[in-house]
Amino acid sequence: MALSYGVGTIVVDNAMECELLVQVAKQSGHSVKALLRVNPGVEAHTHKYIVTAHLDSKFGTSITHKEEIAHMVQTLSAIPNIHFEGFHSHIGSQIFDANAYVAEIQTLMKFVYELQEEYQIQTKALNLGGGFAAYYTAEDKPIPLSEVCSTILDTCSMEKERYQLPLCKVMIEPGRSIVAEAGSTLYRVGFTKQTANKKYVFVDGGMSDNIRPALYQAAYACDLANRMNEEKCEKVTIAGKCCESGDILIEDVMLPHAQRNDLLILYTTGAYGYSMASNYNRLGRPAVVFVKNGKARIVVKRESYEDMCMMECDELVHI
Ligand SMILES: Cc1ncc(COP(=O)(O)O)c(C=O)c1O
Repeated sequence: MALSYGVGTIVVDNAMECELLVQVAKQSGHSVKALLRVNPGVEAHTHKYIVTAHLDSKFGTSITHKEEIAHMVQTLSAIPNIHFEGFHSHIGSQIFDANAYVAEIQTLMKFVYELQEEYQIQTKALNLGGGFAAYYTAEDKPIPLSEVCSTILDTCSMEKERYQLPLCKVMIEPGRSIVAEAGSTLYRVGFTKQTANKKYVFVDGGMSDNIRPALYQAAYACDLANRMNEEKCEKVTIAGKCCESGDILIEDVMLPHAQRNDLLILYTTGAYGYSMASNYNRLGRPAVVFVKNGKARIVVKRESYEDMCMMECDELVHI
C-alpha cells in the first residue's frame, strides 16, 4: 500500500523487513527511498542521556552489528527501484538536554564513516528521529526548537567535515512537540471520596482515553475549568473509571474543592491521547473537538453504545 500510494521513504527496521521490501518493490515496480533504522546505543530519558551499548532494543539494528547492516544495505541497493539513502535512529522522547542529540550525531557519523571505509557504503541522509519535548508540568523546560535545531545542524556540519562525508540531508521527526500542547481533555467530575490518606476525584474517562499515566507514569497538570478563580485548597488524586487500581490520571494535585459535575481540564493531551485511546473495559472513546477563533467543530464523534456493539454478530463459520 505504501509503495502504490507513492510514500517517499520507507524506514526498514531489520533484515527480514529488508527482504520484504525487496520482494514488494520487485513485484510492484514502484520506486521508493529507503532508510535503515539503527540503534546507536544512545538513549535519552528526559533530563539524562546515556551512551551504552544497549544491544537489546526492539527497534532497529545495533550499530555494533556492522557486517549485518552492510549486508542489508547491499540487499536494498541491489534493487534498481529501491534507493538506499542512509540511516534512521530515534533515541527517546521528551529530551531536555540537547547534548543527547550531539551524542547521537557523533556516534552515527563515526559509524557512517566506518561503513564507508570498510564496506564502501555511501550515506546521503540521516534521520535523527524525534524527542522534541512538550510542556506537560512545571517541571518541564523544553528547549526552544530553534535552539535544538541549531545544535543539530552545527554538530552535523562539524562531524561531516571531520569525516569528509558525502552526507547532504538531515531529517528529524518532530512528533508530540507539534501538537501536544494544542490539545486538552475535558472530563466531568463524578464522585469524590476520602480514604484514610487520600482524597479521590473520579472522572468520566481515564486510561481508556489516556493510557500514558497508567502505562509509564506520565505526569500531567490539570485544573477545574469552572473554578479557575478559586483557591487550590485540596490535594487530590484524579482517578479514572476503569476497573484497574493503576487507572490514576494524576496523583496528588492541588485543586479547588471539587464538586460533582465540575469540569476537569487535563492539559497537553494533543499527542498520544486520542491516537492511543482504546475501548478498555468496553468504554466508548470521547469526541474530538477542534476550536479556533471562537468556533468549535466536532471532528471525531463520541462513540455511542450502538457503536460499541456494532461489531458484535452471530454468524455460523463454515469450516
Ligand atoms: C521513530 C520515531 N520517531 C519519532 C517519534 C516521535 O517522538 P516524540 O513525539 O517523543 O518526539 C517516535 C515516537 O515514539 C518514534 O518512535
